[in-house]
Order: sequence, then structure tokens, then C-alpha cells
Amino acid sequence: MMAKTNMFNTHAPRLVPITQAKHAEDALDLAERAADYVTLEVGHAPNMDFIDGFFTAAPPGLGTDDLLHFAVMDGPAFIGIICIAEGYELAKDWWIGLVLMDPAYRERGIGHKVINSIKNRARTAGIEALKLSVLEVNTRATLFWTREGFVPHRYAPATPDSDGHNRWVLKHDL
Ligand SMILES: CC(C)(COP(=O)(O)OP(=O)(O)OC[C@H]1O[C@@H](n2cnc3c(N)ncnc32)[C@H](O)[C@@H]1OP(=O)(O)O)[C@@H](O)C(=O)NCCC(=O)NCCS
Repeated sequence: MMAKTNMFNTHAPRLVPITQAKHAEDALDLAERAADYVTLEVGHAPNMDFIDGFFTAAPPGLGTDDLLHFAVMDGPAFIGIICIAEGYELAKDWWIGLVLMDPAYRERGIGHKVINSIKNRARTAGIEALKLSVLEVNTRATLFWTREGFVPHRYAPATPDSDGHNRWVLKHDL
């Protein structure tokens, strides 16, 4: 049997900017492959409304122009999507709204390289901290972020008006 790391990861993953106008179908295709996580978070399989939210839903006080969207590319393969909000919660924060990898490409060290690439881009942009929220039930992702150097920042329990998920907000100073 071929070694797991040699089956797919022949190229260094690249982060390529994407737009809703050009890449909505590619992003939906990726989200459908990664339906495990989408269903965990939103309670149903991914659809175009989910992709619309990925491209347009900005945190409080920010607009769509403050969002950065990337595809993770492995050679010609579209293997992940990323959304980052610039300037949330503080002017020099990047808030990682989503990192979603195709399950066939997980646990090969690609996520680690992707986070390093985000850190490098953030430092170049003068950003001082990365933040994100992780679902409390998503213990696998919490381990991943912890290994990448993120630490608990605050606990964000579900409220009567929220989606029912308890979350941890994690932070990584740059
Ligand atoms: C979380 C996520 C982005 C991580 O990406 P990834 O490519 O799987 O990350 P890595 O391969 O670098 O690391 C994942 C684990 O695989 C392990 N790993 C790395 N290379 C490996 C290899 N060659 N063989 C086996 N395991 C390996 C790592 O040690 C790591 O373990 P840890 O999480 O317990 O620290 C990805 O799994 C994902 O998209 N999950 C679903 C969506 C999600 O939860 N997103 C985060 C929302 S907050």
C-alpha cells in the first residue's frame, strides 16, 4: 500500500484568492465533499446559501469588503476554502472565519502548511493576532489549533438567539 503522505500531497499547498462571481460552484463542490463539518456546524448539508454566507457574511461592524477568501490548491486540485475577516475584533486582528479542507486531504500536514501561510501573509500585512472560534464539540479541530499555537481567549456559550453551539474563541499572537 502506498504511504498516506505520497498519495495526494505531491505539491506544496497554495493559497489562491477566490471570488463569489468566479468560484461559487468550486466552493460548493468543496463544501459538498466536506459535508461532515458543514452539517456539524449548520445542521444540514451544504447548499448555495451556505456558500453565499461564506462569501458575504461579515462579523459585526465589518462589511464584505473586509473579507479575504482563498482556495487551497494542491496542484490543479481545489482542496480547501478559507475565509478571513480583516480588522475583527481589533484593527490589527485577522479573524479566521473558516478553514475547510476536503476530508481526502486531511491529516497529511496540509492544514499545518496552510496555517503557516496565513501567519506569513498576516505578518506581512502588519497583523498582530489571529483569532477564531471553534465549536466546543469539534475536539479534533481544537487539538489542531492548539498544536498550531492558538490558546483559549474566551468561552462563548450558546445564547437563546444563537445557533445553539458553545464555542471557544482562540487567539494566536504574531
Ligand atoms: C481542521 C483542519 C483544517 C486541519 O487540516 P489538516 O490538513 O487535517 O491538518 P494537519 O494534517 O496539518 O493536522 C491534522 C492532524 O493530522 C496529523 N497529521 C499531520 N500529518 C500527518 C500524516 N502524514 N499522517 C497522519 N497524521 C498526520 C497532525 O499531527 C494533526 O494532529 P492534531 O490535529 O491532533 O494536532 C481540517 O481537518 C478540516 O478541514 N477539518 C474540518 C473543518 C474544521 O473543523 N475546520 C476548523 C473549524 S474551527
